[in-house]
Amino acid sequence: MLPLNATIVQINEESPLVRTFFFDFQFETMEPGQFVMVWVRGVDEVPMGLSSKNSITVQKVGEATSKLFELKEGDSFGLRGPFGKGFSLPSEGEKTLIIAGGVGAAPLAPYAEAARSAGSEVHTVLGARSAGDLLFEKRFAEAGKVYISTDDGSKGTKGFVTDVLTDLDLSVYDRIAVCGPEIMISSVFRLLKDRQVLEKSEFSLQRYFKCGIGVCGACCIDKSGLRVCRDGPVFSGVQLLDSELGKYARDASGRRVKI
Ligand SMILES: Cc1cc2nc3c(=O)[nH]c(=O)nc-3n(C[C@H](O)[C@H](O)[C@H](O)COP(=O)(O)OP(=O)(O)OC[C@H]3O[C@@H](n4cnc5c(N)ncnc54)[C@H](O)[C@@H]3O)c2cc1C
Ligand code: FES
Repeated sequence: MLPLNATIVQINEESPLVRTFFFDFQFETMEPGQFVMVWVRGVDEVPMGLSSKNSITVQKVGEATSKLFELKEGDSFGLRGPFGKGFSLPSEGEKTLIIAGGVGAAPLAPYAEAARSAGSEVHTVLGARSAGDLLFEKRFAEAGKVYISTDDGSKGTKGFVTDVLTDLDLSVYDRIAVCGPEIMISSVFRLLKDRQVLEKSEFSLQRYFKCGIGVCGACCIDKSGLRVCRDGPVFSGVQLLDSELGKYARDASGRRVKI
């Protein structure tokens, strides 16, 4: 698949290190949780979740994302996708719990909206380092109830999303959707396992991608060999039992890197 040329029509500064780039067409059939391969010309092609049908929300961490931050309205990048398996949508009347940390809120904001439109009651636990880093609080609040945690206590519960989860009755939810930094995902995974709700939980994983379409094997996870780009990036909790989650990932050369 050749990349589509996406012209930037609007840039929102969400926080000092996170920006949303809206482009000039919509991926009408995208499932929340799916990703696109973003071709930053002359630098690299990197995976990004879709934060709406016509946007990506980017945290500046390295070379490609820094180059994206230099782009202005009217500039463009290439897009392939959407690819992969997104979050399962709830049925009418089901209760959905969303657990989002940092830029992990990006693919979960459209999921909250889609779940609400499907007739689900949506609750979100939204975590970030501090109040200024909370992403899409308004979008989650429009979909339902929001619990907030910040590491520094500047808003909501002081601590991590797991501190909020400790006080919630998780048995009332039909579905639980999780995305965030791997350290957060793995502590949420342990908590959900202890509370025996893993079989109704889904987690979005990030690994180093090369092809993005299931061919090269760069993103396979141990021990199952599942490809994050094709079989995921969203996996059920049961699929991740006895996996590398929270222990290590692989770099561009395939070497293990400790999480
Ligand atoms: C399915 C999927 C969906 C993703 N969705 C999003 C999204 O919606 N928004 C978003 O901002 N990012 C997302 N990412 C992560 C994004 O692809 C990487 O942050 C990006 O590839 C980094 O490229 P870079 O060239 O800027 O950094 P590099 O130059 O490759 O790395 C620079 C430094 O940043 C560190 N780094 C690299 N990746 C990450 C990371 N994921 N988290 C923290 N540190 C990292 C590296 O270890 C290195 O030290 C997603 C990844 C996957 C696999
Ligand atoms: S990135 Fe090539 S198989 Fe997943």
